[in-house]
Amino acid sequence: MMNTKSWIEHFERNQFGFVEPVTVPGGSRLPELVRKPLARSLAVFQLGESGGGTRLMRYVRQTVAEEDGFTGYERAVQYFVAEEQNHARLLVNLVKYLGGDLIEKQWSNSVFRKIRHGLGLEFNLQILLTAELMAEVYYGLLYRRSGDEVVRVYCHKILSDEMRHLAFHAEFFRSRAEDWSEEKKTWWGWQFGVCLRAIAMVLAWEHRDCFKALGVGKGEVFRMAVKSGERFMRRIDGGQKLWRARMQARAEGSTMVAS
Ligand SMILES: [Fe+2]
Ligand SMILES: [Fe+2]
Repeated sequence: MMNTKSWIEHFERNQFGFVEPVTVPGGSRLPELVRKPLARSLAVFQLGESGGGTRLMRYVRQTVAEEDGFTGYERAVQYFVAEEQNHARLLVNLVKYLGGDLIEKQWSNSVFRKIRHGLGLEFNLQILLTAELMAEVYYGLLYRRSGDEVVRVYCHKILSDEMRHLAFHAEFFRSRAEDWSEEKKTWWGWQFGVCLRAIAMVLAWEHRDCFKALGVGKGEVFRMAVKSGERFMRRIDGGQKLWRARMQARAEGSTMVAS
């Protein structure tokens, strides 16, 4: 069961409180060797964050919206989509501040959208969630290494939102997995690991110039991305174990009362 009420409250609260830095286009003082690859790479993320969420919303309505344990999930997902759109809007300003150009089309983005759209709610969310894991690594690196205060402020805001998105998706998958058989869990974990590595490879390769400018190698980025995925898996799995332990304790408690 998902605590959708607390998620809705979180998303409502989170709409306020961030003060966007006042910037001028091209205002960054970073050396060109860093600024240019950073702007190009952020433009790719800007495009990625800008999806309208129409299909995701349709999947939610068709599958879990009416299910017990997911009341309010549709509303929470609406807020989640709105936050991603807000990221897209913030990134427009950041790309401009870095003197970069926005893009409208880009291969990996089109591929991800196609894959996501063909395969139902759970897979759609899984790909989204893997993108959040990549975002965790990406914005974290930019935050720590860009050396530009404005970039840091934007990345800090997006990163803190993405961390909550990860927790939001973790709770969804934990709730779903309550009904899964052991075989399905094993299969899910396996295919998750494969998808994670494929997407981590795309991230490391596609943004290599940006990472290089920040002094991080492709291999290191790949390893960081895989690690963050494995951390996430433990969270789902740990949640399962916790849940099972709780159920067991409850069952033991009731037999004690009965005897
Ligand atoms: Fe985002
Ligand atoms: Fe996100």
